[in-house]
Amino acid sequence: MTIAYLNGKFVPLEDARISPMDRGFLFGDGIYEVIPSYNGQLVGFQRHMQRFDQGLAAIHLENPMSVEEWQSLFRDITAQNQGEYQGVYLQVTRGPSAVRNHRFPAECQPTVFAYTFTVNAPCDGNPDTATCYRVATAKDRRWKRCDIKSVALLGNVLHMMEGVDAGADEIILFNEREELTEAAACNVFIVKNKSVITPPLDIEKLPGVTRNMLIDILRKNDWQMEERAITRDEVMAADEVWLTSSTKEIAPVVAIDGHSVTDGKPGPVWAAAQSLFASHRFSA
Ligand SMILES: Cc1ncc(COP(=O)(O)O)c(C=O)c1O
Repeated sequence: MTIAYLNGKFVPLEDARISPMDRGFLFGDGIYEVIPSYNGQLVGFQRHMQRFDQGLAAIHLENPMSVEEWQSLFRDITAQNQGEYQGVYLQVTRGPSAVRNHRFPAECQPTVFAYTFTVNAPCDGNPDTATCYRVATAKDRRWKRCDIKSVALLGNVLHMMEGVDAGADEIILFNEREELTEAAACNVFIVKNKSVITPPLDIEKLPGVTRNMLIDILRKNDWQMEERAITRDEVMAADEVWLTSSTKEIAPVVAIDGHSVTDGKPGPVWAAAQSLFASHRFSA
């Protein structure tokens, strides 16, 4: 049984109830985060909290809890749920209102929700235990504020299903200029001639915590690391392609639109990067 947290109480997940007039339900008016917890230790806690605050500020919603209160909630909820490897999901919406109206209500009582789910044990860079991804590609048709970690994810959901319908596990997206943005639920990196490259942050991409941790770790260890626009042709000709997200860390892409990336196996640069990430994930 999963224990959830809803508005100040711990309850079995199946008993958690919100109003159908909740603005999160009606408008997707809310912000969320997913934070990995390995043996009770959170990965990137400060960074996740910072991005959460930025998202709430972007939608003009005050954070209803302090960082200390969130930390204590995460400690409690991971202890109450089973498993060494958990993902902590948290969500704050603008809460219920009496009438359905696009305008923010004069006063609101935010809905605060959290629960945990099981995630895979993280990989140490061994290709034999890596989860490899086959991806499709598409034009990015999402809204122009993909930098906000909004619960309104229909654009991402439809892209993910486009990938699934094409027989892939994920889908990587390109803007009007045929430049790489991100994937439906991950950021994307490529490797060319040992240089690690990822697109710069803007309104077309989520500022991924894993992305930013990886960049900092690689730079601190004197890797060649560039943030610049990447064309579709460069992605298709890359030596390696990686997806990054909190629940995947760094995941190797082995095929794009049915074409193998190099030899269709996790590459040596990925193995070194994931191994380095594994040794710095709690300090970066
Ligand atoms: C659209 C999108 N981009 C990137 C990411 C990766 O972000 P993070 O590394 O913070 O999990 C996610 C994660 O859910 C995502 O949904």
